[in-house]
Amino acid sequence: MRDDGVNAQVLLAWYDVHARDLPWRMPPGSGQQADPYRVWLSEVMLQQTTVAAVRAYFARFTARWPTVGDLAAALDGDVMAEWAGLGYYARARNLLACARAVVARHGGVFPSDLASLRALPGVGPYTAAAIAAIAFGRSETVVDGNVERVMARVFAVETPLPAAKPALIALATRLTPAERAGDYAQAVMDLGATICTPRNPACAICPWVTGCAARSQGIAPTLPRKSPKPEKPIRTGTIWLARREDGALLLERRPDRGLLGGTLGFPGDGWDGASGAAPLSSNWHLAGEVRHTFTHFHLILTVQTAQVPQTTIPHRGEFLGRNLFSPQDLPTLMRKAHSLAFG
Ligand code: ADE
Repeated sequence: MRDDGVNAQVLLAWYDVHARDLPWRMPPGSGQQADPYRVWLSEVMLQQTTVAAVRAYFARFTARWPTVGDLAAALDGDVMAEWAGLGYYARARNLLACARAVVARHGGVFPSDLASLRALPGVGPYTAAAIAAIAFGRSETVVDGNVERVMARVFAVETPLPAAKPALIALATRLTPAERAGDYAQAVMDLGATICTPRNPACAICPWVTGCAARSQGIAPTLPRKSPKPEKPIRTGTIWLARREDGALLLERRPDRGLLGGTLGFPGDGWDGASGAAPLSSNWHLAGEVRHTFTHFHLILTVQTAQVPQTTIPHRGEFLGRNLFSPQDLPTLMRKAHSLAFG
């Protein structure tokens, strides 16, 4: 054990008092294992998404599909609709594929070893380690952005990310305890989320302050350093919102692969600047434009609207009435277009 106060015991003692109360967690030190299904679901949702945003989605998913078997039996469209607004829709498609693989390969019981977990769809090194540690108490090291930041500071790693990643993982591994590895993993994440925050770390109340190298050098808020990211390009395109006399809207499910894969939305062109054909011939009106930022680019879409007769037959997509879908079931970009067009 390090004698500068940077060790698992000190952090676990802090966690026993300060752990955040999260719906997928067991109380710290309770000795009870968390449900692997809830751990897996929460970890997939928390990738790229804040705890605050995830809470309501997690509650709805677990109320509707209480077990992995229930989720495996769900209709794809229902899961995509519940996921709408969380973003990174490949996660939702992998979620279903993973639930079905747990049923097909493991009889509906999550495996506990890293190799079987890693073999599941959408389960990478982070998620596998998180499930193994949090749900099964295995001594695995869980490294997310919070953990990287904490390690970079405690050990004053000045190499920028992403190059520093392997070193940060090695440092995190050295600190991982044999016992209570799940509580420990969540303790480091909570420390990163509540005290060792990106901009103004609350070092005065940090359980690891005495041994923190960045703190003693006065550089904690500047770490981790990051290599500059290339600027995001801007892409443009058109989206068509057609409303029939009975209020039904023209919708189309996007192909499983690619941007917003598998989600329901309004027909668009390629969003690559080349103009495409409208999904039906009508007297289209320009409603304005919507902007949305994806991981690798900004998108600006021109929004065209039309009111069309009941007998209209579209070239693409199908008319869905309000009984069959709600704008709430659409990805954020599509909701923006809907509120611009029909507010
Ligand atoms: N971020 C991702 N997973 C988490 C967890 N289990 N606890 C706290 N923060 C997290």
